[in-house]
Amino acid sequence: MTQNHKAAFFNFEKWGEEGKQYVTESPALRDAGVEVAIVSNTLDAAHIPADTDFDIAAIFMDSPVDAATIAALPNLKFITTMSTGFDHIDLASAAARLIPVSSVPAYGENTVAEFAFALILALSRKIREANARVRDEHRFETDGLRGFDLAGKTIGVVGTGRIGKHAVRMAKGFGMNIVAYDVYHDDAFAAEMGFSYLELTDLLAQSDIITIHAPYMPSTHHLINSGNIGLVKPGAILINTARGAIVETAALTAALKSGRLGGAGIDVLEEEAAMKAGDMSLDADLVQLPNVIVTPHNAFNTKEAYFRILDTTIENIVAFAKGAPTNLVK
Ligand code: NAI
Repeated sequence: MTQNHKAAFFNFEKWGEEGKQYVTESPALRDAGVEVAIVSNTLDAAHIPADTDFDIAAIFMDSPVDAATIAALPNLKFITTMSTGFDHIDLASAAARLIPVSSVPAYGENTVAEFAFALILALSRKIREANARVRDEHRFETDGLRGFDLAGKTIGVVGTGRIGKHAVRMAKGFGMNIVAYDVYHDDAFAAEMGFSYLELTDLLAQSDIITIHAPYMPSTHHLINSGNIGLVKPGAILINTARGAIVETAALTAALKSGRLGGAGIDVLEEEAAMKAGDMSLDADLVQLPNVIVTPHNAFNTKEAYFRILDTTIENIVAFAKGAPTNLVK
């Protein structure tokens, strides 16, 4: 006999009616005996719902589930995050309560890598400026809009996991030279794609474009910092679609202001949680620089990725309901 469960989907309004309908009418959840509740707030210590009878919490990156949040939810038995990253969850507190945590390990490898290249190309070909030229300046002229080719340039890929590997393949398609840095070396992939692993300092020194695809964890906190950012090639471009705190914001801002870095494409910010909550004063110095493109953690956001996230989240919940959780984070 299937046990009954209640899964609360937090801050789910932004997924629109289509997403709500997809989970509330999911035959797989219904067959597994899972009732669905849609909650408009995030899940965090400041937003503990009045009704805490759910045993499953489905959350996004914007729900910082810390020790206090977990302590306030006596019925909680499973957390599933609708993201690849899980650094917003206090895993130690969850483990202490024997609450398994699952994620969506592979919804958007190509999706995020495509976005990284969207940022690279927007910067290398001055797409924003070119569009503003016609739209705002009402001039159909090319002065000041000369960019640079990607073919023949060196891209440094930091983190050659699922997303990084797609970035490598795309870079190869553009005819770029590829170098990489990772604590784990996939030598077979490197041989297949024709690239070498370097020390981070060498990667910084050799790359025209640096793109970060490592997870955020204590060992990647401020991986790029004031101590090593000065090693980059003058005019290099830095792309971060991984996590804000992998790059020290003050060091990045200073390198962009001095011109040591020629530009940056940033989808993730150190202060993005506070910015999401409405405080746009944070990281404002970086956001306003002319040679920077900042997007609001949007690299994952395609139609295709959206349904892959929902499908895996439903699978995660069904697997938990059947007593065999999958996609567990370590
Ligand atoms: P993955 O786990 O497949 O690959 C991560 C790679 O980073 C692995 O090869 C690992 O060995 C490497 N790594 C670990 N520690 C490292 C270190 N200290 N230095 C260098 N490399 C290190 O992860 P995946 O799927 O490629 O995702 C990467 C990150 O992208 C996620 O952790 C997440 O933070 C971010 N992401 C951002 C999204 C967005 O919308 N902006 C969407 C999805 C993921």
